[in-house]
Amino acid sequence: MDKRKCAIGVFDSGLGGLTVVKEIMKQLPNENIVYFGDTARVPYGTKSKEAIVRFSKENVSFLLKHNVKMIVVACNSSSSFALSSLRKKFSLPIVGVIEPGAKKACAVTKNKKIGVIATSATIQSQKYFQMIKKISKRVTVRSQACPLFVPLAEEGWFSQKPTYGIAKEYLSVMIKSKIDTLILGCTHYPLFKKVIGSVMGKKVFLVDSAKEVAREVKDILKKMDLENSLSNEGRYQFFVSDKPQHFKDLAKRFLGCPIKNIKKV
Ligand code: DGL
Repeated sequence: MDKRKCAIGVFDSGLGGLTVVKEIMKQLPNENIVYFGDTARVPYGTKSKEAIVRFSKENVSFLLKHNVKMIVVACNSSSSFALSSLRKKFSLPIVGVIEPGAKKACAVTKNKKIGVIATSATIQSQKYFQMIKKISKRVTVRSQACPLFVPLAEEGWFSQKPTYGIAKEYLSVMIKSKIDTLILGCTHYPLFKKVIGSVMGKKVFLVDSAKEVAREVKDILKKMDLENSLSNEGRYQFFVSDKPQHFKDLAKRFLGCPIKNIKKV
């Protein structure tokens, strides 16, 4: 089989990775995508490094059965703790979400003050902090874990009153720190853009890693001559480890369109 026709494998701990899939669909409409959401073990963001690395390796092994040409680790918690182990174990190109988001934030900040909001695991790993410092030593970084955003998103509570209250509480440190750029360092956070934007104000630039990741995927496929120019429209398959109906019901909010092809594994 022509390798260019193979799908891009994307995994996340659950639904959130669909924000990355949405961008890949938009920027690379010809590409086939196989998505795995580990809904039986979500959330990853509260788990240990060992557990996240183990789950991530299993997820890649599953996607490889579907003959994928590349892996996108859409989950920030997995990208923080497991990316280097995955790259050591598997030989295909593997893209994480930390570097693209950090690069974008460093490119847009004017006052050199960047905020990062993410799960507890991602913040604890300090991967965003390290990556930003690697890109620009002059930037200061303020980090804040926002664990309640994940269950709120999984429930579909994107702009209810309590969501605003929680966002205000979490983001007060960012306002005090006078950041001008905020990285949404979790797959689920782009869904709260409206709420986060209204709390932070118009002057703060929100970095949605999904867009940057899709750009990076495009660049890599091009460089490796793996772009699928052989079809006009990508085919999409979705797999979850639990509750496919719940996934299906909420997927539309994340993807912007309904999903048809979903299986529990
Ligand atoms: N996908 C996770 C992340 O981006 C958020 C959900 C979870 O905690 O599993 O970190």
